[in-house]
Amino acid sequence: RTSLGLMFTEAPQPNRGQDRRSLPEPYPSEFANAADTDPALPGNREWARAILTRVPESTLGDDLVERHTIVHPHDLEEQISGAVAAAPSWGALSGADRADILVRVAHSLEKHRGELLEVMASECGKTLDQADPEVSEAIDFALHYAELARELDEVDGARFQPVKLTLVVPPWNFPVAIPAGSTLAALAAGSSVVIKPAPQARRCGAIMVKALWEAGVPEDVLRLVNVGEDQLGRQLISDERVDRLILTGAFETAELFRSFRPDLPLFAETSGKNAIIVTPSADLDLAVKDVVYSAFGHAGQKCSAASLVILVGSVATSPRFRRQLLDAVRSLKVAWPSDPTAQMGPIIEPAQGKLLRGLTKLGPDETWLVRPEQLDETGRLWSPGVRDGVQPGSEYHLTEYFGPILGIMTAETLEEAIELQNAVDYGLTAGLHSLDPADIELWLHKVQAGNVYVNRGITGAIVRRQPFGGWKKSAVGAGAKAGGPNYLVALGNWESVEATV
Ligand code: SER
Repeated sequence: RTSLGLMFTEAPQPNRGQDRRSLPEPYPSEFANAADTDPALPGNREWARAILTRVPESTLGDDLVERHTIVHPHDLEEQISGAVAAAPSWGALSGADRADILVRVAHSLEKHRGELLEVMASECGKTLDQADPEVSEAIDFALHYAELARELDEVDGARFQPVKLTLVVPPWNFPVAIPAGSTLAALAAGSSVVIKPAPQARRCGAIMVKALWEAGVPEDVLRLVNVGEDQLGRQLISDERVDRLILTGAFETAELFRSFRPDLPLFAETSGKNAIIVTPSADLDLAVKDVVYSAFGHAGQKCSAASLVILVGSVATSPRFRRQLLDAVRSLKVAWPSDPTAQMGPIIEPAQGKLLRGLTKLGPDETWLVRPEQLDETGRLWSPGVRDGVQPGSEYHLTEYFGPILGIMTAETLEEAIELQNAVDYGLTAGLHSLDPADIELWLHKVQAGNVYVNRGITGAIVRRQPFGGWKKSAVGAGAKAGGPNYLVALGNWESVEATV
């Protein structure tokens, strides 16, 4: 996979004294990320077209979803106690033995790439260019956590103890990569896993889990449970036997789960309200491309998406950036993913509530640079919208919408732009487009976000290169960054050798 420009992956720490002018070393450099499908090869295009013809009528995974749907409390109880009972033998394997299974998982995910693309497109409306990197990311997670599992065998001076039960509650917007990453991390750390896929993405979850089972992850160690978000869901979240809960979802969901069980051992990556700053020295062609991709990839339904672009100085006052942005946004082909020319697909459900308001109503002083339009009767297919004149402290400035809308703000100086970028409660991703080293230095020193990118889009963190996690209200509970060097450690119980003798 390719990346443009400089990439900084770890956010600056609160205590910043060090010289930040040198680029961080990639960790460790010999790791090879999985390759996405190359559409330049005619064979790949044929393969992709065959998948797309199946998408409209696809029922792939329905049988598995049905088999693993739970409606009675005692069946849920059986799954939980079964997973706990299976944990000791899984946890007693060496890290190297678990790693071998994870390497087989990587191959199995690659083998199932076509099926995974089919379910992501048909169930969640992902266009193939968005779905394909998800499979690559899932493979990267498998190989990365395999390596970390091996390292657990070499722990010096301390003993790593697996926990018994990790509950994984993933989102629908990355319906393969995030459930796979969370599950594989917990498995690598020696824990049993109960996974509850998002109701909107159950087929995706089922095919992903099938790929893991086929690779040799025991079915009693990895349990797929589909429960509603009612009484049974609450029973699952509240269960005292859950040692770790890996959640990716809205901040409010994390708070709700905590209200069910105040001592919940939560590892949550939550909401974002992310902005890209564009300064006068920026390569504007690149900035437009990165802003459009970050804002409208998967119809803006990413916690990492750019919801704001903050134009600085002459970029704000001259018409050039806006004109290029307008042309680029209007040129996006919006269609259902079965159409091979689709560049932006549908939103997950008919627009309602906050998102509908964001797509249809302007705040004071705002104007539409591009007005979103509902394109068919489903309520799910919308053309992208760009609102200009977003005011500091306004509803749009501070709210996450999770859809195909971008707002433009302006600032006279970079300092002022950074204040606008940091003024939100969240701190997930942030971008800067500038070719001026002094700007970059200043920005890295001040920006408040877990994942910060210079001269690159702000979505699509690459495992190991850009470990992913949030600051401020974008993270709840414990946990290191997913895809980084410390994630497994955080998921286990650590006990020093001294303390046990
Ligand atoms: N890891 C995803 C991204 O970087 C978000 O979850 O876009």
